[in-house]
Amino acid sequence: MSRLATFLLDLVMGHPALARLRARTLAEARGLVLELGCGTGRNFPFYHERVVVLAIDPDRGHLGVAKARAATAPVPVVPIAASAEALPFADSSLDAAVSTWCLCSIPDLDRALGEVRRALKPGAPWWFVEHGLCPDPRVARWQRRLTPLWRQLAGGCHLDRPIAERLARAGFRLERLETGKLVPGPRLAAWTYLGLARKPEA
Ligand SMILES: C[S@@+](CC[C@H](N)C(=O)[O-])C[C@H]1O[C@@H](n2cnc3c(N)ncnc32)[C@H](O)[C@@H]1O
Repeated sequence: MSRLATFLLDLVMGHPALARLRARTLAEARGLVLELGCGTGRNFPFYHERVVVLAIDPDRGHLGVAKARAATAPVPVVPIAASAEALPFADSSLDAAVSTWCLCSIPDLDRALGEVRRALKPGAPWWFVEHGLCPDPRVARWQRRLTPLWRQLAGGCHLDRPIAERLARAGFRLERLETGKLVPGPRLAAWTYLGLARKPEA
């Protein structure tokens, strides 16, 4: 993506309302943590001290900014150019996963969910805050209508992904889930899923 796209992403994702949700989402992550689609590294200041973060993103422009943020982060962060659909990590090797406003943008979400499941240790947590499909049928109808255009304008972002359902379908156990309009803006883009999913023990 262009420098302008990276600049705009960083600007939008720096909104203070998102910062509050980042802090909540990352507060309990511990150990060797996979961060999916780290973008420009807006999460890095919010990690607890007992983590090492492997932060992946396929966009080298975003990753350039993430690398600069990693250098001043309060915890060790390793930015890695990689896609969620092909994670460069061994099976059952990671203690936790984190994703913030990222599952909307991954082209092959089912493959990515399978990859996260493969790379996490049995029983490992996945902390997430994502936007997605709204249960109000009128809003959902518009989310479905607008997604083809929105994807072109917003870096592949889908408005209409049923996040909790997709996680459950991929075999994750949903332990906590809060949904609602948790950030400013129309429900089209602001309908939020915040929670904890877990890879089954066996
Ligand atoms: C809306 S941004 C969110 C960035 C960051 N998570 C944050 O909270 O600021 C979505 C991110 O998903 C990344 N992304 C797109 N396709 C991806 C893929 N296949 N695997 C991993 N990340 C991907 C994009 O490059 C972008 O950085």
